[in-house]
Amino acid sequence: MSEAYPKLFATIELAGRRLKNRVTHASMTTRMGHEQRPTAQQLAYYRNRARGGCALIVTEPLNAWRMQRAPHKVRAWTDDALSDLARWAEVVESEDCRLLGQIQDPGRGRHERGRNPFAWGASALPDDLSWTVPHMMSVADIAQMIEDFAGSAARLQRAGFSGVEISAGHGHLFHQFMSAWCNTREDDYGGSLENRLRLTRELIAAVRAECGTGFIIGLKLPGDDGVPGSIGPDEAAEIAPALCTPGAVDYACFTWGAHARSLDMHIPDAHWPRAPFRDVIRRLKGTVPGVPVMAVGYITDPAEAEAIIATGDADLIALGRPLLTDPAWPTKAKTGREREIRYCVSCNSCWGRIMEHAPLACDNNPRVALPDEVDYWPAIASHRRRIVVVGAGVAGMEAAWIAGARGHEVIVLGAGAEAGGKTRLHSQLPGGENLSSIFDYQAVAAKRAGVRLELGLRAGIEDVLAPAPDVVVLATGSSLSWPRALPAAWRDDGLIPDLRALMPDLLPLTERQGGTAVLFDMDHTEGTYASAQVLKRLFDRVVILTPRDRIAEDTPLVTRLGILRRLSTLGIEIMPLCEPAATSSLEEGIVFARNVYTGSETEIGDVMLLTYSTPRTPDDALAAPLRDKGVEVHLIGDCYAPRTVMSATSEGHAKGHEL
Ligand SMILES: Cc1cc2nc3c(=O)[nH]c(=O)nc-3n(C[C@H](O)[C@H](O)[C@H](O)COP(=O)(O)O)c2cc1C
Repeated sequence: MSEAYPKLFATIELAGRRLKNRVTHASMTTRMGHEQRPTAQQLAYYRNRARGGCALIVTEPLNAWRMQRAPHKVRAWTDDALSDLARWAEVVESEDCRLLGQIQDPGRGRHERGRNPFAWGASALPDDLSWTVPHMMSVADIAQMIEDFAGSAARLQRAGFSGVEISAGHGHLFHQFMSAWCNTREDDYGGSLENRLRLTRELIAAVRAECGTGFIIGLKLPGDDGVPGSIGPDEAAEIAPALCTPGAVDYACFTWGAHARSLDMHIPDAHWPRAPFRDVIRRLKGTVPGVPVMAVGYITDPAEAEAIIATGDADLIALGRPLLTDPAWPTKAKTGREREIRYCVSCNSCWGRIMEHAPLACDNNPRVALPDEVDYWPAIASHRRRIVVVGAGVAGMEAAWIAGARGHEVIVLGAGAEAGGKTRLHSQLPGGENLSSIFDYQAVAAKRAGVRLELGLRAGIEDVLAPAPDVVVLATGSSLSWPRALPAAWRDDGLIPDLRALMPDLLPLTERQGGTAVLFDMDHTEGTYASAQVLKRLFDRVVILTPRDRIAEDTPLVTRLGILRRLSTLGIEIMPLCEPAATSSLEEGIVFARNVYTGSETEIGDVMLLTYSTPRTPDDALAAPLRDKGVEVHLIGDCYAPRTVMSATSEGHAKGHEL
């Protein structure tokens, strides 16, 4: 048992099956399946999480009903799937980790563009986000679905799975049946709460009848779906005891949000307080005596998890994103190596990835699903080289620690007083604090790897060449480009600062500046809107101009919803299809917003500040002169081409291995 986290690492039994501790892996779609079968990459993903020390894993949703045919989801509804399922069970269960298959259907819910033409639902009512109107399921459809799900559960049991999790939360199909907001049926499955619960109750009973009492049945239920007229904590407190009785259900897990403007509750980012649903979980746990409760939702730290178990607020902790970022989170916590955990930074890039139909990936874990991912430390290189890394941002630091750990002599030259580059600046903005986990981990690893940091120096050619490097890695980042809509000559006046240069000056200010701040947005990522929040703290009016038809387009939907809510709450104005016009006059406090299609101009008055966040250009000025001197030069991160944090860390990681 761990001394630091004795409750978190205490054993527990579910359905008579032993769990070695209380840390579980929440279901997350990996998008790694292919043609309805598990891939080697997917099995490695699950094996790694089991090896990392968690006690139970819930798989991503399976194709467990004959109507479910998504190619990236593993099939469980036919017997020819048995050997695939058995392999999956083996790789996880052999690590003393219980494996549960998830039974779920999104119903009318859809997070992507367009509508789902194959959706089923309780009623023919539109989904709040996609406006998909589902086919209303008949009683015969429901019966067949339940029969298939129960049959698939039995197949999972035969394959060696320890149980199933029925996902009746997050706004999915079973949740939709429970909610009066989307269920207006007049038959036995609609109307009274008892009728709305009937489908889930019958499903639980059917699985139990097929699989018996020694098979774990977990139930994800709505805790608060955040939709007016749907299921809040009060109705959740009626639903939970109605469905969760000892013997029927082996654990309950309360979930947050729905397929609606509350979708961001599902995966809270750092604009939320930590463990934001703990109070509701405690209350709901009180309604289901004798049934273990699993807490989920923005729990990232072992001390938080320990406190939740120790106070009795929950019996189990489910970690989604934190185990994606570091599968060895449990082992490191248990053995007092918390500082070596690569912590989830709650950026939700992982969610953005699967929405783009790409395999799950992480800003702060460049090795997701690689065979040696768990507790990774690189092997020593065959030849030792002297490497100068120019730039101490997250690309440069990632390359540096990997190269150092491989035995190279590594010197990092950084312009800032501390490592982290632009990501450090972002971490100082509202909702950015968790990003520090990227460069904090890199700093710990770099120290362990013997990397030498020389900070506070904007390196010139002589500085780079002074240590006589065998190779130079340029990770010097990028700068915001001057808006082409404005005369180039204005650039030298210094009256229109770029947003990144401006923020360090504005962040410490507490005194209101008054007037209007205009922000020209050709960035559409989170830092720009976090900066807009800072502007609103200081200026009376903030107006965002963008040439696109909406803002925040390059953020995952879950992130965008939060951005739109915060900007709306703060009264920040958005002018789409606009750019600042050359007719603007900062001296007179006037910016004209020019419609990019019609050329018509709208006056914005009392302007104290015009700033811009635009596509970046690489700061690669050192590359050519170094190459002229015969030096081997590699460019990584924004300095190669301006992209995302994920590109920066993964490219730095790869470069550190390549040298
Ligand atoms: C990329 C991603 C995919 C997810 N996919 C599913 C899913 O398929 N089924 C499900 O029940 N929950 C899914 N979730 C929600 C998680 O199970 C969990 O409730 C959520 O991430 C909050 O936990 P965390 O803060 O520990 O990440 C997903 C979450 C993420 C980040």
